[in-house]
Amino acid sequence: MTKPLRLGVAGLGVVGTSLVRLLQRQREGFVARAGREFAVLAYSARRKDDRGVDLGDAVYFASAADLAASAEIDVFVELIGGADGVAFEAAKAALARGVPVVSANKAMLAAHGFELAALAERSGAQLQFEAAVGGGIPVIKTLRESLAGNAIQRVSGILNGTCNYILSRMESENLPFEVCLREAQRLGYAEADPTFDVGGFDTAHKLAILASLAFGAKIDAGAVSVEGIETITLADLSAADELGFRVKLLGVAERTPHGVEQRVHPTMVAKSAPLAQAMGVLNAVSIAGDAIGELTLVGPGAGGDATASAVAADIVDIARGIRVPAFGRPAASLVEADRVPMQRHEGGYYVRLAVVDRPGAMGAIAARMGEQLISLEAIMQKRATREVAAAGVVPVVLMTHGTTESSIRDALKHTVEDGVVREKPQVIRIEREAV
Ligand SMILES: NC(=O)c1ccc[n+]([C@@H]2O[C@H](COP(=O)([O-])OP(=O)(O)OC[C@H]3O[C@@H](n4cnc5c(N)ncnc54)[C@H](OP(=O)(O)O)[C@@H]3O)[C@@H](O)[C@H]2O)c1
Repeated sequence: MTKPLRLGVAGLGVVGTSLVRLLQRQREGFVARAGREFAVLAYSARRKDDRGVDLGDAVYFASAADLAASAEIDVFVELIGGADGVAFEAAKAALARGVPVVSANKAMLAAHGFELAALAERSGAQLQFEAAVGGGIPVIKTLRESLAGNAIQRVSGILNGTCNYILSRMESENLPFEVCLREAQRLGYAEADPTFDVGGFDTAHKLAILASLAFGAKIDAGAVSVEGIETITLADLSAADELGFRVKLLGVAERTPHGVEQRVHPTMVAKSAPLAQAMGVLNAVSIAGDAIGELTLVGPGAGGDATASAVAADIVDIARGIRVPAFGRPAASLVEADRVPMQRHEGGYYVRLAVVDRPGAMGAIAARMGEQLISLEAIMQKRATREVAAAGVVPVVLMTHGTTESSIRDALKHTVEDGVVREKPQVIRIEREAV
């Protein structure tokens, strides 16, 4: 048999320790599939403590960069995290000397994916990152390899389990955002500072990676328009339910006449759509291609075992000698990402307004919509709670037919200036195409 593939694993936290266990548990399967043993020859972490995993004779490196530079390893597995700093420096060091890198680090790839891919290409090393998006869902390989025969039209997905858990819990148990966020933190699904997840930024990093694979552009997280779920209320979820929708935080990358849009925002998804079926911490990604039509992958977007499964698959590919460009095409052919302003987005909109309870108010709103050529598909007047009624406002929900973001924003700006609504209007985009 060929000699064992010698792994240097940097980071022995949730994913790193799960990987070590998985490599031991599945040893025979890996040997059968890849034709060689895998051995963790060396590892790095901040501290050398016992982590409850059997590391055998593996050598400890206090510095991940020194591990990446070690002549003893065949593959550098980066499971530290963070866009810059030690993870990036170590990954660069390994690639520069032709050592393949496997990483689960979406933040690093979103910030430096193009640079790392170009470096890998120059040195002839593999750069693999299946675990960076969708945890255990094999979405990177699907886009990069399995759908290589397609022109991709659109990729849309639930890419953050924390947000999906919060929205699912709000919906199923009629609990407000803050309560569900605290519950997510208690269960370890959300960080003490949840901004990165609930603000949509984690989804934006992952979307930028998928958009690059789908559309052959350099990763550009700055091209993603981002809104989080903090403003979603139970009133929105109950109106969505009545209208046949669920609210999901989606990342959408889509080819449009203005270029490839990349956007992250709370979205009305039809209840019958596969993306709407993914509840709790599950992730889901729908891909539309000219030959395939639509397909949807659903699965665990995080967790030690699920993520280690994706890391292990990358290691098996390297052991098999499979060579694929990191983003599915030569780095030199990747073009600059389009930066399509959100104002140009076209689609349907859900709008929730606190309308002042006086004659003519609804007429004034309809007139402002009419000025922008916005036609309404549905108008729902919701029963006001006692407090809302006492405040002299009536909750009203509008659903528009297709229009532009700038039209709806202008119409609502004027509506607010007219003094016929109180509070900032709630605006949620409707994805009719979401399968
Ligand atoms: N957790 C998931 O479900 C999941 C899912 C998908 C992707 N990912 C990605 O996987 C990566 C790892 O995530 P994780 O959840 O396993 O993180 P984690 O539990 O926080 O583990 C991070 C590990 O990195 C080590 N580390 C930190 N700074 C280091 C340094 N300067 N030098 C060497 N080692 C250092 C830590 O050492 P100590 O243990 O000594 O502190 C720890 O072992 C991240 O990029 C994350 O985004 C995670």
